[in-house]
Amino acid sequence: MSVKLNILRQEGSNQPISWDIRKSPHILISAPTNSGKSYFIRYLLSVLKIHSIYSTCIILDYKQGTDYWQWRDKENVFLGDSVYDGFDKAYKIFEHRRNNPDKKYPPFFLIFEEYQSTVESISKKADKEAFLQKVGNLLRLSRQVNYHLICICQRIDASAFPAGGRENFSTKISIGRLSPQAKQMLFPDDEDINRNKGQGEVNIQFDGQPVIEARTYTIRDMDKAEQLITDLLSRGLPLSNEAVARSP
Ligand SMILES: Nc1ncnc2c1ncn2[C@@H]1O[C@H](COP(=O)(O)OP(=O)(O)OP(=O)(O)O)[C@@H](O)[C@H]1O
Ligand SMILES: [Mg+2]
Repeated sequence: MSVKLNILRQEGSNQPISWDIRKSPHILISAPTNSGKSYFIRYLLSVLKIHSIYSTCIILDYKQGTDYWQWRDKENVFLGDSVYDGFDKAYKIFEHRRNNPDKKYPPFFLIFEEYQSTVESISKKADKEAFLQKVGNLLRLSRQVNYHLICICQRIDASAFPAGGRENFSTKISIGRLSPQAKQMLFPDDEDINRNKGQGEVNIQFDGQPVIEARTYTIRDMDKAEQLITDLLSRGLPLSNEAVARSP
């Protein structure tokens, strides 16, 4: 079964751009502040609710701003300092799936806002290394178990990723102005990218193909979008018998 989600539209033609979550399991998003990152994630979450009836997710947001505040009591939303617990929970779901790889799993999405700042906030070197190792495992090994990582960064540099980790993001998105540094991180091989983008304006690349210019969709009815997200989050975590590791 393939799941294709129309997440963006092409610049100019407005043709939908679809994300095939099987082919391209993980997304790396880099976008400066106020460029429309969270707005785009809202759209994406609403699409997940509508088009993928069994999908579940965990949202981590270290910033603890207003974006996810209304959902703070949901078991799958972790804000501020609780993001580390949220990450552990998400990692357990991955480990359990990996240990039982023969089963079929519905899509699971780990939505990791403020990824770079979260990693930088880990003060002990050993803790940080352990964290990056887990991120690396997720990126390399989760495709077969229908587990998808969406990392969102305001700034982006190599120190926040495990060695070789970035190459495992087969979909790369930049929203808004693309700094020379972010260009180097996301699209090092493309020389003639239009970096001069505004709010909601996107460069996207799938699997090393040419970069496509795109736009985020407008959310026509924000109340409805928020209701869809509430419904998605109310699905809870993946089935508890799936998520709980077997006792030894
Ligand atoms: N495609 C769009 N159409 C209309 N308004 C948009 C669009 N994208 C973003 N906005 C508006 O722009 C503002 C900034 O967007 P958003 O909060 O998503 O930015 P952000 O990149 O997440 O910023 P921050 O770094 O503060 O988290 C919001 O008021 C949002 O509603
Ligand atoms: Mg935001």
